Amino acid sequence: MKAETILVRGDSYFDPVTGAVSVPIYQSATFRHPALGESTGYDYSRALNPTRSSLEKSLALAEHGKYGLAFSSGMGAISSLIKLFKPGDHIIVSADLYGGTYRLFNEYYSKYGFLFSWVDTSDFEQIEKNYNAKTKAIFIETPSNPMMKISDIRRCADFIHTKGGFLIVDNTFLTPWFQNPLDFGADFVIHSGTKYLAGHHDTLSGFIVHSNEAAETLLREAQMSEGAALAPFDAWLTLRGLKTLALRMDKATRNAAAIAAWLRKHPAVEKVFWIGFTDHPQYTLSCAQSRGAGGMISFYIKDASRIPLILKKVSLILFAESLGGTDSLITYPVVQTHSAIPESMRLTAGVNDKLLRLSAGIEDADDLIADLDQALSD
Ligand SMILES: Cc1ncc(COP(=O)(O)O)c(C=O)c1O
Repeated sequence: MKAETILVRGDSYFDPVTGAVSVPIYQSATFRHPALGESTGYDYSRALNPTRSSLEKSLALAEHGKYGLAFSSGMGAISSLIKLFKPGDHIIVSADLYGGTYRLFNEYYSKYGFLFSWVDTSDFEQIEKNYNAKTKAIFIETPSNPMMKISDIRRCADFIHTKGGFLIVDNTFLTPWFQNPLDFGADFVIHSGTKYLAGHHDTLSGFIVHSNEAAETLLREAQMSEGAALAPFDAWLTLRGLKTLALRMDKATRNAAAIAAWLRKHPAVEKVFWIGFTDHPQYTLSCAQSRGAGGMISFYIKDASRIPLILKKVSLILFAESLGGTDSLITYPVVQTHSAIPESMRLTAGVNDKLLRLSAGIEDADDLIADLDQALSD
């Protein structure tokens, strides 16, 4: 089946009793056993829930993986994935990435003896330089959040596999509609399902997709033991979001193309970062490993002192954290999504006080540009 059909139909689960075409929300914490030693296959929702299972299988299909695990947020997924490693293990991580991931690794897991190096993973030589005998994985965001740098998935995978390690790719920005990292050798795909997958800014969810049988046992144990599994209603919202993912991603990309081109010509704007520009420094690589540019744009405003007013003046575009939903959002990374990252590291990555990040939604592009126009004008 083709990708669009998989997104709509997922694992084709139907309620065995009613045949309901929408996967029911099995809002039940526990499941009755017919007799001692007999089970419907379900015991307790922290371990297994039919709504969550349908979503997990559907996303695994969409990401070309064997297994999918759904968590209560993207951070819950990343935190569970770290349980594959042990104290003393070293992970090379993209320096330009979601600030919450930095905080989780640097402020929490480093306390327990996990080692991290923050590296510009779009520059392969930096990965080689930072590799050491303790390195067990590379964790990349591609495109990176918020500077839109591209890391070479195949090259990172081939390199770390020769060393016996894993490649983990956060695919939140491009989603399986535009990019399937497992096809390029990645071992684990991570998602904040809160973003494009669910797509309506109304729920949080997170995922791990992979095809490693040994890891599946450990990850299921982590999901069940730690209790960060996704709740049935949130699983249902995310399942519903998946059905329209292709349509929403295509529309958000068209809107982003129009907005990015317009921003580039605006006198108040210094520089625009969008991976769909043919003169993006890694455009060729981007086209080789993904099928679309997506709706995420970052841009520098020439005069940073104007940013508070711009954020006050936007009205159709909402000044809010997050991304990837039907409604366009504008974010100020230095004080929001990336505030947990130390200033010197942020500045090296290019995340300074002139940077705004825009998540194009699926509204009318002319309306979005008109809103930006009035917000950017004196
Ligand atoms: C790229 C990326 N990965 C992971 C996360 C964390 O996801 P969540 O907010 O669902 O925990 C985010 C959140 O913004 C993100 O942007």
